[in-house]
Amino acid sequence: MSALYRAVGPLLRLLPPETAHGAAIGALKQGWIPVPQAGEDDRLAVSLWGLDFAHPVGLAAGFDKDGEVVDPMLDQGFAFVEVGSVTPRPQPGNSRPRLFRLGAEQAVINRMGFNSAGADVVARRLETRTRRGIVGLNLGANKDSDDRAADYVEGARRFASLADYLVVNVSSPNTPGLRALQGSEPLRRLLAAVRDAAPAARLLLKVAPDLTLDDLTDIATVVMDGAVDGVIATNTTIERPEDLRGRHKGEVGGLSGRPLMRSSTHVLSDLYDFTAGQVPLIGVGGILDGDDAYAKVRAGASLLQLYTGLVYRGPGLVMDIRRRLAERLARDRFASISEAVGADHR
Ligand SMILES: Cc1cc2nc3c(=O)[nH]c(=O)nc-3n(C[C@H](O)[C@H](O)[C@H](O)COP(=O)(O)O)c2cc1C
Repeated sequence: MSALYRAVGPLLRLLPPETAHGAAIGALKQGWIPVPQAGEDDRLAVSLWGLDFAHPVGLAAGFDKDGEVVDPMLDQGFAFVEVGSVTPRPQPGNSRPRLFRLGAEQAVINRMGFNSAGADVVARRLETRTRRGIVGLNLGANKDSDDRAADYVEGARRFASLADYLVVNVSSPNTPGLRALQGSEPLRRLLAAVRDAAPAARLLLKVAPDLTLDDLTDIATVVMDGAVDGVIATNTTIERPEDLRGRHKGEVGGLSGRPLMRSSTHVLSDLYDFTAGQVPLIGVGGILDGDDAYAKVRAGASLLQLYTGLVYRGPGLVMDIRRRLAERLARDRFASISEAVGADHR
């Protein structure tokens, strides 16, 4: 953790969470957050889908929903930034409060409900970017949409040439009925339609952690049939571990952070098994330090993402993870991160 965040972090956490998030976005836009100096470490480099990632650590969807701070977050040391979820039309999301910290367990519960500036605004921001750096675009559906699948298709068409990869996110718990699209047949149809709309795009699917083994087997089958180029595991959970404490533990929404690490890594590991290690996986959920990150790599993740860790550890977390990953690779005598991917399965 940087000295600055040691001082500022506790102050930010005195503010209501959404206010603190707004302040962080504002500070990033103004260039007030010091940019870390980093040497590149070739052992951490990842080549995937024809893209060269300097290292595996990316920013998960939800932090920069409207594409306001893509370049500042790349400057903070992330290898890639995922914008979104973006809905075709702007929508306000659920009423506030809708974001809660569970400090004792380094967790967050959110029921934002896809608050989005909408595709037009976000597309314009991406069109006017000048910095290089890998950007993903996470697609969502409008709450009042009659045809959710059509929303993803529209988003894919719109963003195919503006992002390095697209994500079909059918795993957010805060839009009623959305997760039903993870079922085998609806999923197959949805992904085929999105593929048709953006045939040249790299297409990823983001799944929930609350899936049964049967669900996961079905998803793996669809994925192995070539419906997508990779899977992001996982979104937030609607489960509540029994030992959760704090006055917000009963809030409705998706839980992220430390208590999600175990179940999301489990899903990641199962997907690696069910796809025989042949489909690139992005591991996300509960990464609070470099050892968590390394555990996801060994479980099968080629790339990683985080969000909640930033709330508790600040932006210095990215550099800490990169350093720790290099140490763990050396200790396990791996010459590169790709050698460590899925090591726990061998
Ligand atoms: C406040 C908040 C908003 C989020 N919004 C989205 C979203 O719009 N789309 C999405 O796919 N995931 C969203 N997520 C989920 C994260 O991308 C990630 O999958 C999840 O938080 C687990 O990672 P973490 O434990 O590192 O936070 C959101 C998470 C949080 C905490």
